[in-house]
Amino acid sequence: MQVGLKIWRYDSKTGERALKEYEVDAPEEATLLDCLDLVKDRQDGSLAYRKSCRMMICGSCGMRMDGGAVLACKVRMYDVAEAGHVPVISAMGNLPIVKDLVVDMAPFWQKMRSVEPYLQPRYDQAEERENIVTTEQMDVIHKESLCINCGCCVSECNSMESDPDFLGPAALAKGMRFVGDARDGARIERLERYSEEHGIWDCTRCYFCNERCPKGVDPRDAIAKLGAEAMKNGIDRDMGAKHAKWFVTSAKTTGWLRETELVPKTQGVVKAIKEIKFAMSLLPKGKVPPPFPPHVAAEVDESRALYDLVKAQGVDGAAGIVQGEKALGALSHHAETSGDRSPYDEPDSAPRPYLPSEKESEEVTT
Ligand code: SF4
Ligand code: SF4
Ligand code: FES
Repeated sequence: MQVGLKIWRYDSKTGERALKEYEVDAPEEATLLDCLDLVKDRQDGSLAYRKSCRMMICGSCGMRMDGGAVLACKVRMYDVAEAGHVPVISAMGNLPIVKDLVVDMAPFWQKMRSVEPYLQPRYDQAEERENIVTTEQMDVIHKESLCINCGCCVSECNSMESDPDFLGPAALAKGMRFVGDARDGARIERLERYSEEHGIWDCTRCYFCNERCPKGVDPRDAIAKLGAEAMKNGIDRDMGAKHAKWFVTSAKTTGWLRETELVPKTQGVVKAIKEIKFAMSLLPKGKVPPPFPPHVAAEVDESRALYDLVKAQGVDGAAGIVQGEKALGALSHHAETSGDRSPYDEPDSAPRPYLPSEKESEEVTT
């Protein structure tokens, strides 16, 4: 097949930048990396890119294809070539370019090092010769352990683009890999450190890291787990943590989000007073519900019961998110193996279909 590529060439020494077009004759099973090899071997030996394993293990070949980070050895080019599309290949984002598709990974490794990515054994286990970790305990950090340090998530991180000091998705996912490890003795210290400025709460929740990670690590979910664990352990000084905490309190007490109290609870009374002028401008639009008496949802008992259930099951930290991942995994597995029964086929399973009450049905039919 004929594969066209437009490649952004760049040399940091000269500052020269140019978009160059190539076409190679490649076998139908060729990956993007195979096509780059063909360009380098047969047309332009000066093209620079990284590779090693060629099988999605080493994490060397991260780059952008049409603006999104990919592992070049994972992307098959057949469909692209069939569609007559000529993709634009460029270096990953959020990292300095050295040459062509090669980026300087030093900032990536510096952040990895800063989360102390190694086990700090608990003192109460120091004398034990064997430390068995159960499958259930390992499940909590299964996804985080799959990371191959490719940097594709960092390339697409919106928060890092505006704040290069943000720890970022890869380092935080690595942090969760140790916070969730049953053998680690520095959980609280880690949560304290990751909750500081440029940490957990500076993530904008854009989910681009989940979308681009080629190994299914889902770094944003790892960050959510860190946030949940931090709050479970009372580490909630950051404004982001206070904001999340108030959401839970509000839902538990009234089954409703009480926006009027959100600002003082999150940012403090002084900041809230400064916002009064802005709040007054929203008042005529009905956007500022009166705080007293608070609006209470009709079925607030359900919301309170849900809160109590989560607490009783001990899934108010990272375990709750792991539980959700399993449920979603079961759903998607079922979608791929149609014919099997889904766990959601059971009458008492959740999420339940919405069924109108008898009263609502009557109202609709009359
Ligand atoms: S979800 Fe957070 S960590 Fe992930 S890319 Fe967006 S801002 Fe970055
Ligand atoms: S989390 Fe995924 S995208 Fe990010 S470095 Fe690890 S493997 Fe690569
Ligand atoms: S060459 Fe190793 S992951 Fe692509």
